[in-house]
Amino acid sequence: MSAARSLEPELLDLRAADDPRARASRRDLVRINFVMRQQTIMAGLLRRHSRPRRLADLGCGDGRFLLGVARRLAPHWPQVTVLIVDQQDIVSAQTRAGFAALGWRCESVTGDVFATLPQLDADIITANLFLHHLDDLALQRLMRLAVQPTRGFLACEPRRSPAALLASRMVFALACNEVTRHDAVASVRAGFAAQELSGLWPHAGWTLREGLALPFTHVFSARRDAL
Ligand SMILES: C[S@@+](CC[C@H](N)C(=O)[O-])C[C@H]1O[C@@H](n2cnc3c(N)ncnc32)[C@H](O)[C@@H]1O
Repeated sequence: MSAARSLEPELLDLRAADDPRARASRRDLVRINFVMRQQTIMAGLLRRHSRPRRLADLGCGDGRFLLGVARRLAPHWPQVTVLIVDQQDIVSAQTRAGFAALGWRCESVTGDVFATLPQLDADIITANLFLHHLDDLALQRLMRLAVQPTRGFLACEPRRSPAALLASRMVFALACNEVTRHDAVASVRAGFAAQELSGLWPHAGWTLREGLALPFTHVFSARRDAL
């Protein structure tokens, strides 16, 4: 896709946590993450790293995405603490119990990411379908804040491509509501291509990887080089 990134507000972000349409849209996201195989892709990125003590997921929503990732990794990674970082505090008791059943601890960190990130203590940071909410200046600011004491920064985002745009217009076939139908298209237009995230990474001494994963996902990973 030749068009530059274009950002517009996503409807889910504008709705209260207990709004029925927002709740339904978060259920839609579970299906979209399944179709895009986001949990499998993220687990694959994480397996290239050693077990973190504390893992923070930015824009984590209700935590169901991260729980699916944790289920894939817990057999090899015992006793991880996950930080569910989101502007809304919407993690259900069931999701918390899911982490506990894996032997993982789960903490909510609620607030705007730029307010909470400086206080986060996490050795790996992840983001799924979140970075595309930010313009390039905000992304660079976030990346600057994200590196202490982190050794890995991994993201699975929408790919800005004709195939992904076409698929985003067809989420009605997954019975997605009007919030999700709007946000799916907006997300692809704000998504990433080529080496756009690597170009924004403001630090030396990190190994960067970026590219297409499956048809619709754009992955980015930054790993701190050994000293
Ligand atoms: C598209 S949803 C993705 C949720 C989750 N990662 C998933 O895959 O199900 C984006 C999330 O980012 C959160 N978010 C948006 N802007 C934020 C900000 N400035 N600070 C913290 N969270 C934010 C929203 O509340 C929402 O939960």
